[in-house]
Amino acid sequence: MNLHKHSLQVILDNQQPGGGYLACPTMPDYQYSWFRDGAYIAYGLTLDGQDLGAQYNGSMAAQWDSAGRFHSWCAGVIHAREAQIERSIARAARGEAPDVRDVLNARYRADGSEGPDDWPEFQLDGVGTWLWSVREYARAVRVTPLPAAWAQAVELAARYLAALWRTPCYDCWEERGSDIHISTLGAIYAGLGAAHELLPELDFEATRQAIKAYVLDCGLTPGGELAKSVGLDMVDANLISAAVPHGLFAPDDPIMRRTIARIERELHAPGSGVHRHLEDTYYGGGAWVLLALWLAWYYAETGETDLARDLLAWAESQADAEGNLPEQVFPPGLEPAHYEPWIQRRGPIACPLLWTHAKYLIVRRRLAHVAAGDR
Ligand code: BGC
Repeated sequence: MNLHKHSLQVILDNQQPGGGYLACPTMPDYQYSWFRDGAYIAYGLTLDGQDLGAQYNGSMAAQWDSAGRFHSWCAGVIHAREAQIERSIARAARGEAPDVRDVLNARYRADGSEGPDDWPEFQLDGVGTWLWSVREYARAVRVTPLPAAWAQAVELAARYLAALWRTPCYDCWEERGSDIHISTLGAIYAGLGAAHELLPELDFEATRQAIKAYVLDCGLTPGGELAKSVGLDMVDANLISAAVPHGLFAPDDPIMRRTIARIERELHAPGSGVHRHLEDTYYGGGAWVLLALWLAWYYAETGETDLARDLLAWAESQADAEGNLPEQVFPPGLEPAHYEPWIQRRGPIACPLLWTHAKYLIVRRRLAHVAAGDR
């Protein structure tokens, strides 16, 4: 089984004609395209497309072509909601909370329409990560100037994030909708920086500085780690993103080092995956393959390549006979009693999860870059 080739295949096979990626083709609740999942998938393809040896159906450019079509799809989704986005920005300027009908959803159907209403849709991190992913794509593929439709969407999305960053929203796990999450702030910080790089006339430096100052003021635990959310003495493995890839802190910043150390202590058993957070009950709070790869990505960036390779090998060992990688595995579970009820409700754990396959592509490529001395 060539897991690299299979990962590409799973991703490209599940891209919808319009450009969105199904998060997971086998789980009904995941048969939508998310900004967040797709942004990482597009980044995985962007990196992988730099590897001239990688082919799909004989086409060298399949990865870049696919990522570009995803970005165009997102631009279309954002553009179609221009009026709502402007209303949210105007309300934020008046100090009012946004109207739920006017915020961007987290997930969309293949045709770009909203999914059913019963989902925690208001999540700002996905939009920030999308902006970051567009910038990575534009840099790698040398997209200059930015297509007008992309430029319009980048500008609108960035103004939306700059106006709403202080507003509580659901986090990247679609939980805790009344909190302000540090990982979400990291994604917004990265997105605003990316928007400036893409369109230099946009300047969000003051907002970026304000976000960072706010995190230093309100976003640390008593032990000096980044907090999962403002006011909580708890970490979440999603905080890896504050460094990699969002760059709110350098990977070796002492705050980041303390955060990673607590994640290692509380959420990662050696030889296993990484749990999301100590209160996780989703599918019994299993060990996430996605997060094992995310931690591996962090270690690749810090040059701790042995640790990265161990996690990569563990993730590879979780592929099923066809080479499909799941979201998480159970056991081990933090809350085993919650496993069965989720199986009853939703069916088996999502597999293949495209986002996990994308992380696999990312870690492989980043490790190769680090080995080649290209940081
Ligand atoms: C995860 C999200 C993800 C979605 C689709 C959810 O269960 O918490 O992070 O975007 O699944 O993969």
